[in-house]
Amino acid sequence: MIFSNALIHWYLKNNRKLPWRETKNPYFIWLSEIMLQQTRVAQGLSYYKKFTEAFPSIFELAKANESTVLKMWQGLGYYSRARNLHFTAKYIATELNGVFPATFNEIIKLKGIGDYTASAISSICFNEPTAVVDGNVYRVLSRYFGIKTPINSSLGIKEFKALAQVLIDETQPGTFNQAIMDFGALHCKPQNPSCSSCPFSESCVALEQNRIKELPVKEKKVKVKKRYFNYLVMVTSDGKTILSERKGKGIWQGLYQFPLIETNKNISINELISKDEFVNLFPFNSSISLFNKKEIVHKLSHQHISTKFWIIETENSQEIKIKWAEIEKYPVPILIANFLEAFSTKK
Ligand code: ADE
Repeated sequence: MIFSNALIHWYLKNNRKLPWRETKNPYFIWLSEIMLQQTRVAQGLSYYKKFTEAFPSIFELAKANESTVLKMWQGLGYYSRARNLHFTAKYIATELNGVFPATFNEIIKLKGIGDYTASAISSICFNEPTAVVDGNVYRVLSRYFGIKTPINSSLGIKEFKALAQVLIDETQPGTFNQAIMDFGALHCKPQNPSCSSCPFSESCVALEQNRIKELPVKEKKVKVKKRYFNYLVMVTSDGKTILSERKGKGIWQGLYQFPLIETNKNISINELISKDEFVNLFPFNSSISLFNKKEIVHKLSHQHISTKFWIIETENSQEIKIKWAEIEKYPVPILIANFLEAFSTKK
């Protein structure tokens, strides 16, 4: 079975009748493709009708003022789409005499148009065999071929694009692209796909291996938290410092550290010394300087710790007991070990 033939066969029987499928005018195709990003067809439809009535050609859109365009877009969300659309309409109207560029390489240069939209316009309007890859395409291909590469990884993005590009019917690329998207939206749905009546059920890898629910795979992107550590490195005139064990749960539990003031942004020396925590720790006379003029960023899987080591030179105090000469005995996080090494060579 040739994949594209079976797909187009399905599409010719089952496709959605949509107004932008009645035309090959790139202005209308562009508009519909931008509207349908992050928006379901059912919702996009009424906006498309309103928009094309108000702006029947790229010149009317270019002439409109931005607030009118945004008002028309109201409720669709992601307003940068509307602003870019307007910007590009003005550019095409004035710089290109209203003639929409006709190749993928030219179309993708336009503001607000990425790989997906350039592929859709160049295939639908200009018959260029450039494969679209949207959420529907990822789902259909990952299931049919049993591909578990995460669709939001850079490898996945390349792999699925290359596969779609191999599969595309070069004689009718626009139809192929719309067929695979409609097949994903109507048949190979995210939940409860219609596998029992699927034209691909004989050869679908995910169906055969009972992996429909697992595919496509999406990588969980961890959100990296930014933290700001200010370590207070005490240096007494008799060679001592303060170091204490890190309590509580966490990766550094049981390791030793200098007194720490955590802030929610990078702070200056004046901000540091005016903090209550600082005044409570050091009520005595001292001179302060910043050791690392360039911020040190310690990168962990879920957090980036921007660190400043503040050197606080002070007189002797009975309460300060850790000898600099013995500091190497204490287990410390690598962030502090690196500082100790740099500090000892600079002293
Ligand atoms: N989703 C976005 N654009 C589409 C198109 N042209 N056909 C089917 N689904 C789509």
